[in-house]
Amino acid sequence: DWTTEDYIKQAVKKIRQTVGKSRVILGLSGGVDSSVAAALIHKAIKKQLTCVFVDNGLLRKGERESVEALYGKHFKIDLRVIDARQLFLRRLKGVEDPEKKRRIIGLTFIEVFEKSLKKIGHADFLAQGTLYPDVIESVAIGNNPASLIKSHHNVGGLPERMKLKLLEPLRELFKDEVRAVGAALGLPREVVWRQPFPGPGLGVRVLGDITKAKLDVLKEADAILMEEMKDSDWYWKVWQSFCVFLPVKSVGVIGDERNYAWVIAIRVVESIDAMTADWTKLPYDLLARISNRITNEVRDVSRVVLDISSKPPATIEWE
Ligand code: XMP
Repeated sequence: DWTTEDYIKQAVKKIRQTVGKSRVILGLSGGVDSSVAAALIHKAIKKQLTCVFVDNGLLRKGERESVEALYGKHFKIDLRVIDARQLFLRRLKGVEDPEKKRRIIGLTFIEVFEKSLKKIGHADFLAQGTLYPDVIESVAIGNNPASLIKSHHNVGGLPERMKLKLLEPLRELFKDEVRAVGAALGLPREVVWRQPFPGPGLGVRVLGDITKAKLDVLKEADAILMEEMKDSDWYWKVWQSFCVFLPVKSVGVIGDERNYAWVIAIRVVESIDAMTADWTKLPYDLLARISNRITNEVRDVSRVVLDISSKPPATIEWE
């Protein structure tokens, strides 16, 4: 019979046998899969594991700091944080087309990751948080941008170029089993039950042209939404919740001055598999608090709107 503890014991044994005295590199995204893979591999081989976290400047507010606190300080994993914020911004400058943005973000990620591997020095294995459904799905990676970018983020092609062997300890597991393993390894609820976050991150949530100023506005608004969702416990009940920066200026009023400022959209959906989704009917008092806080606390936002579209025909993301 399969129990989580048994699974962990066996997986640890197998990782040690496979890896021997070699070094393992893992690209940590902060998502559930790579986090559980990191915790499991670290349990097995400790200092032989090096994790690489790329800060592309398109992360949520505080994301990099919480990764550093959990994996670096708490688990004492050898964690290399690569600050590539300027590079991503430069490459994305003036780019408005969402698919072009995705491609640039994916390719820049590979480039930065590959460069960091060279700096870290010789390793034999590249670890990935591939799950059983990914194994099946990867056969079907076609023109779906989400799976294409997923393959980018799973750095397809790179293992061969860098002569790395793949280490995929979660290959036989489904998502719920991965969460159980993560919880048993001591990962906090915030990580184990984290909502999905797209690889291109806030890059596809600032509509159109991306600038640092727009990203900063979005990060502040989104952090308020996250805080209110968690405080009210709604965060754990929905599939995804996030803000979108609309490149629209609308008139507002501060004192007796007219003030043209940006518009933020709130997107909260329920879903089983992201193929279809329903917009979540959040209580009005919660929505009111979120909206008041965003318009009062975030400079340059004059208006908050709520996305009440379901998928299909709308998608979950706006780009
Ligand atoms: P859509 O917007 O297509 O999103 O309804 C379905 C799910 O996929 C996520 N998503 C992405 N994930 N790279 C990713 O890794 C992407 O380019 C991407 N686009 C959308 C989205 O957040 C939702 O969970």
